[in-house]
Amino acid sequence: MALLPVGQGRGYADGMQPEIATGPTAATAVVRDATPADVPGLDACYACARHAERIAGADGVAVRYLLIESAGVVAGFGRLILSDRRDRSGLNYTPRIVNLNVRPDLQGRGFGSLLIGAMERIARSAGCRALYIGASRDNPRALALYLRLGYGPIPEADRKDVRLHAGADGVPSRRERDAIYVVKSLVDASAANP
Ligand SMILES: CC(C)(COP(=O)(O)OP(=O)(O)OC[C@H]1O[C@@H](n2cnc3c(N)ncnc32)[C@H](O)[C@@H]1OP(=O)(O)O)[C@@H](O)C(=O)NCCC(=O)NCCS
Repeated sequence: MALLPVGQGRGYADGMQPEIATGPTAATAVVRDATPADVPGLDACYACARHAERIAGADGVAVRYLLIESAGVVAGFGRLILSDRRDRSGLNYTPRIVNLNVRPDLQGRGFGSLLIGAMERIARSAGCRALYIGASRDNPRALALYLRLGYGPIPEADRKDVRLHAGADGVPSRRERDAIYVVKSLVDASAANP
């Protein structure tokens, strides 16, 4: 399994450098696919009964369950969905980042930004032209972070053709309907995160 180094002093804005010199730091972080052995570490980020199921459901191609770790500590995780298929009604399931969480005691140290940047590089390598990410309306800090990383409103012309989080029945849950989604083009390399 390939490790993707993401730290090395790159990938975060001024002022985001970790303040501590020991323990998990963004500078030494790597991003990799989660394995069943990572479930306790994922739970420390966000306790969820579905980690094992999501790891099993990740095929390493269309769906990745990725984590960022440093000093042997899982600092955060997220699911990267790369499939770009259309459903029977013609709506497009867009490449997107979901379930993004950084361990509460490690938030604000750049891990989330680095993980998003790594996911963008993976998505671009997979040929995705754009990547979507969402947060609930009552999470302005997450949304502010996405805007800072180059995400922006979904163009009006695309909205009717985009389905982000539909359930198995094709109907988005109330949580999804309450979320705000933003999009970033991956086409212009100069607009990518370093
Ligand atoms: C949102 C989140 C993934 C960002 O990861 P992170 O590692 O904390 O982010 P970074 O350190 O790279 O960037 C920090 C910025 O993230 C944003 N942020 C959002 N929630 C934050 C939190 N609880 N703590 C710190 N920063 C947060 C802010 O914009 C912050 O910058 P600011 O301090 O200038 O406001 C992470 O904070 C988190 O897991 N929050 C709880 C779950 C969540 O909101 N998930 C996303 C929506 S599903």
